[in-house]
Amino acid sequence: MQVIGIETSCDETAVAVYDQARGLLSHRLYSQIAMHQEYGGVVPELASRDHLRRLLPLVREALAAAGSGREAIDGVAYTAGPGLIGALLTGAGFARGLAYAWGKPAIAVHHLEGHLLAPLLEERAPAFPFLALLVSGGHTQLVDVVGLGRYRILGETLDDAAGEAFDKTAKMLGLPYPGGAALAELAEHGVTGRFVFPRPMLDRPGLDFSFSGLKTAALVALRGRELSDGLRADVARGFQEAVVETLAEKARRALRATGHRRLVVAGGVGANRNLRERLAAIAAENGAELFFPRLEFCTDNGAMIALAGCLQLAARAASSFFGQGLALGARARWPLTDSDTTGV
Ligand code: KG4
Ligand code: ZN
Repeated sequence: MQVIGIETSCDETAVAVYDQARGLLSHRLYSQIAMHQEYGGVVPELASRDHLRRLLPLVREALAAAGSGREAIDGVAYTAGPGLIGALLTGAGFARGLAYAWGKPAIAVHHLEGHLLAPLLEERAPAFPFLALLVSGGHTQLVDVVGLGRYRILGETLDDAAGEAFDKTAKMLGLPYPGGAALAELAEHGVTGRFVFPRPMLDRPGLDFSFSGLKTAALVALRGRELSDGLRADVARGFQEAVVETLAEKARRALRATGHRRLVVAGGVGANRNLRERLAAIAAENGAELFFPRLEFCTDNGAMIALAGCLQLAARAASSFFGQGLALGARARWPLTDSDTTGV
């Protein structure tokens, strides 16, 4: 079984071909970051228009690199939400059109399910069930992954997502959008202990997060001071330490509460080296193993959508995907626990 996956939920246009028996055959990605950078964030209308420009060439490239095409493809998977509605609709329209023309099933994929399953793209893949820490630009969640399509949210952020806090703090530090990776790099040059920011929600039981206060703490630390390289690096370090420690401590509590032996970290902030190191230590202390996707599959990509689509297609009768005909939809907001995609 072979599935082509299309991702357009935000500012990356990405396409990949995944084969159930042979694994990932190809993946292509075009990042719009340079286009959005001058505005300091993603401009939705520009994102939608650019997805339209890139989709067809990327699909052609991904199919050619996989040595695949209409005959070999069994389904067309696409991100149906959550994300920017215009960006999602360009991908949904394109994917459903292609599937209709080819007479193949169109498979709607939940973006966060894609992130959760991304570690399954690796040779050392986790078996179900596992505990997942999902940390992206829009979401921060601890998820009990019982099996494919069976997700229970154990805790989530009450305000900003971890990636969002990274990006907002990076902006204050004069770094270009999206600043997460650049802030992490800057933190390497900082001194530990000069700024000790609050560890939000650690003093309370439960597995929820809150990151909006942290960026205010960083703002207060910077206020009235000259933005020297040393100060920027020290604030970056203090900020990263607070986020990493908070995420790691909640992951530790969730491991203990659930008794899971496998911990997965996924989503863009999962690319953070300090976070991975801390989570590896916590997993080891609790008799668990840590799994993560390679760096390029932590952030948005088509490979995770093709994989999730392939698993869905393998689990359900192909006929169940044909009900909608040419109708199409996408959801800007869409809880993971409602990841049944038959009615999207
Ligand atoms: O999963 P993702 O590509 O997009 C969403 O679905 O949101 O995550 C993007 C987020 C951005 O906020 C970015 O700043 C953050 O991931 N990010 C990082 C790192 N690399 C990307 N945050 C911290 N450290 C990194 N190395
Ligand atoms: Zn994402």
